[in-house]
Amino acid sequence: MPNDNHDKNDNLNPFSPQQPAQPEYFADRKIELRDFRRMAINSGRLKIPTPVNYAILGSWGQGKTSVLYKFRQVVIEDLQKEIKCVCIYFALSPESCQNWERFTSDFLQDIPSNLTSSGKITKKIKAELGKWEISLNLGPVGATRKREERKPRLLDALQVLWNKHLEPSGTQIAFIMLDDLHYFPLHKEESAYLTLRTTFQELVNRKCNYSLIITAPTLLFTDIAEVAEPLGRFFRPIDLNMFAFEDAKEAVEIRLKSVASNVRVSDETIRAILEKTGGHPYLLMFTMHELLNMLGQVKSVEVESFAQNWPRIEALLGRQIFAQKFQHASPTERKLLIEIAKKDSKLVSPGAFSQFKGASRLFARLEDEELLIRSDRGKYSIFHPLFAEYLKNQ
Ligand SMILES: Nc1ncnc2c1ncn2[C@@H]1O[C@H](COP(=O)(O)OP(=O)(O)O)[C@@H](O)[C@H]1O
Ligand SMILES: [Mg+2]
Repeated sequence: MPNDNHDKNDNLNPFSPQQPAQPEYFADRKIELRDFRRMAINSGRLKIPTPVNYAILGSWGQGKTSVLYKFRQVVIEDLQKEIKCVCIYFALSPESCQNWERFTSDFLQDIPSNLTSSGKITKKIKAELGKWEISLNLGPVGATRKREERKPRLLDALQVLWNKHLEPSGTQIAFIMLDDLHYFPLHKEESAYLTLRTTFQELVNRKCNYSLIITAPTLLFTDIAEVAEPLGRFFRPIDLNMFAFEDAKEAVEIRLKSVASNVRVSDETIRAILEKTGGHPYLLMFTMHELLNMLGQVKSVEVESFAQNWPRIEALLGRQIFAQKFQHASPTERKLLIEIAKKDSKLVSPGAFSQFKGASRLFARLEDEELLIRSDRGKYSIFHPLFAEYLKNQ
């Protein structure tokens, strides 16, 4: 007898490139997860605070935020028998990173909604935070003018949080997760990066067990070395790789399984998608999403139907993703990008483009925009072969 439910679920499309992977959809990164689990238990149990700070590094769409979500789930759910901990996840934005004061204020104000914890302490902490003096300092101008002028220091506020609320409730370690750290401007008189490092270093010195976990484009840490060298050493880096075959297969199957879909994607199809996308997580999700939409109700996805639909998927990728990135560049940068793509060589150097005035500067800007990737000895490549193909058609 046919199973109606299964038939219905075969229609579901669980692939959504725009969203970071929910922990239930998370694939790969096994070594990183093992390392993080071990560290979390260790740092949580040590009586003298000895936290490890992590920097999750990669280019856009490589899965940085997904790793943060997964880390949060690991400590809050998987390890709840091992350690009692709290996570505060904060997604940075250009607005909240305009200056340190603005960041401090936004971050502290959002703590009640961004805080999750293992065990039953969340409710208690949130109730306590309602009464928390710091929040008063951020209130509207009014009778408490004096207070309003005294801006809270992140260091003091987090110390109060630890001493008054986290430690008394049995919390062994608190993870502060800052997503997209690169929104802090790099070249400013007072570097937010250094303040961040000083703050978290001093917190540990004051016996508050905070571990800082950030995400950023790989490049940021190279550039930071010039303005805030000690920050690089403050973090244990996690460099995200592209998916290999087994990882891509897991990422695809875990999603289909989670919606109880019977659709089977053949290994050959996954290999073919991997060949086109280079294992880039975002591009893999995009391809799977569109492919399932195009195929409609099928029981299996074979390499032939992928090959047939690929030109349409590639065109959509161009229109929805690459066009946006391309339009973001200035007219001269766009011309340069097209010229680079036309060269068809893996690596190019600015010297070969002397027809463009200030080529080195243009290359650096395109690198900032994550459209070019810099490798050793000042050579560059287009960030993805599919983008190079797109450029050649412009
Ligand atoms: N480890 C992973 N497992 C499954 N899917 C992933 C993983 N990492 C990334 N993805 C998928 O790739 C896309 C980009 O991930 P995201 O975390 O938003 O990247 P980033 O923060 O680096 O821009 C999302 O669609 C996400 O679902
Ligand atoms: Mg992200």
